[in-house]
Amino acid sequence: MITEDDICNVHMMTEEEKYNLLKDVIIDYDRKEDNLIQILHMAQAIFGYLPTEVQHFIASQMDLSVSKVNSVLTFYSFFSTKPKGKYTISVCLGTACYVRGGKEVLNKLKDELGIDVGETTPDKRYSLTVMRCIGSCGLAPAMTINGKVYKQVNPNRIKRILGTLK
Ligand code: FES
Repeated sequence: MITEDDICNVHMMTEEEKYNLLKDVIIDYDRKEDNLIQILHMAQAIFGYLPTEVQHFIASQMDLSVSKVNSVLTFYSFFSTKPKGKYTISVCLGTACYVRGGKEVLNKLKDELGIDVGETTPDKRYSLTVMRCIGSCGLAPAMTINGKVYKQVNPNRIKRILGTLK
């Protein structure tokens, strides 16, 4: 079975190699509709996002309609049909973070980056998302950048945090 660890060198692959790998993944998952979410996860790991062409490829390989594939991926917020930026910033808006200023942190990020939730800056550097509790409620509000957790953030720290990424 191909796992996400097997696709770590994907950035060195040609488009053709990526599609071949995705085809192997789909075969590994027996082309079963029940496995569509896992297949979409792997496809996103291979391509970075799920553009229309990839959706069409999955649909044809699995003998499903494109609308079926599209309806599943648009239902889950962790799937993206647009390319993500180099840094994905996710602000926690779970209850603890929300009441301790998560919304203000999010607004500051929107101002600094000039984008809304779900968008990517034109230079493809930053994407902004929100999420629910990440288990750091004791040190809320929290956010992550490419999976790294930042705790007790506040609007005044945002510029400095972004500065460390440059
Ligand atoms: S609510 Fe944000 S970490 Fe729990």
